[in-house]
Amino acid sequence: MRSKIVAGNWKMNKNLAETEALLAELSAKLPDTSAEVMVAPTYINLTSAVRHLESSAIEVIAQNMHFAESGAYTGEISADMLLNVGINTAIIGHSERRAYFGETDEILAKKVTTALSKGIRVMFCFGEELADRKSDNHFKVVESQLKNALFALDASSWSKIVLAYEPVWAIGTGETASPEQAQEMHAFIRKTITEAYDASIANDVSILYGGSVKPANAEEIFSKPDVDGGLIGGASLVADDFVAIIKAI
Ligand code: PGA
Repeated sequence: MRSKIVAGNWKMNKNLAETEALLAELSAKLPDTSAEVMVAPTYINLTSAVRHLESSAIEVIAQNMHFAESGAYTGEISADMLLNVGINTAIIGHSERRAYFGETDEILAKKVTTALSKGIRVMFCFGEELADRKSDNHFKVVESQLKNALFALDASSWSKIVLAYEPVWAIGTGETASPEQAQEMHAFIRKTITEAYDASIANDVSILYGGSVKPANAEEIFSKPDVDGGLIGGASLVADDFVAIIKAI
């Protein structure tokens, strides 16, 4: 079911003490909202974060997971390990995973399949690079990212998928897609899903925008009809900023 979501991707920031302090501040300041609020601390602090938020409405989610069930994959974390510590949602396909860790559409398709087979909800990230936008290829790139990683799924899988459109040129750069650019792409994404599946799946999926969302621009971006929330990096590391973004939705 389509819902409003604000998720904080903490990336490789915050040690254990800092994680607990930020969670305590967030819990204390969390506004009343019908939106789902999520935070993705680093793997090593997931267990502690889940315990810390036991009686909170904030969901702890993972930044990544591996596609294999278990085995000789040094440094990796499996779906079962996440479930075992109380994590039910994983970000898959973040542009930093694609750019720095060689995650291809093919690898991401396997991760999505594994996550869904385990009952893990997928927050699937995708988006074009600056060169793609400059050469007017952004729609084509986004369409192929979706097609390659998701369009082999059966229709019923889509209830466990959240999409996060994150133009790479807007991530951590301070440059945000304009609300019109975000809306234009989100509408295109729904059209693409309608063509591959049907309008009810396209209308039911939550599509978040990510890339330099801040308290100052959140409200305008979230006001667009096809934008269902945001995946927030830098601004999610400061409780007051993240809370202001939650209020904006
Ligand atoms: P940013 O990161 O908000 O710092 O641009 C967004 C993301 O990477 O999800």
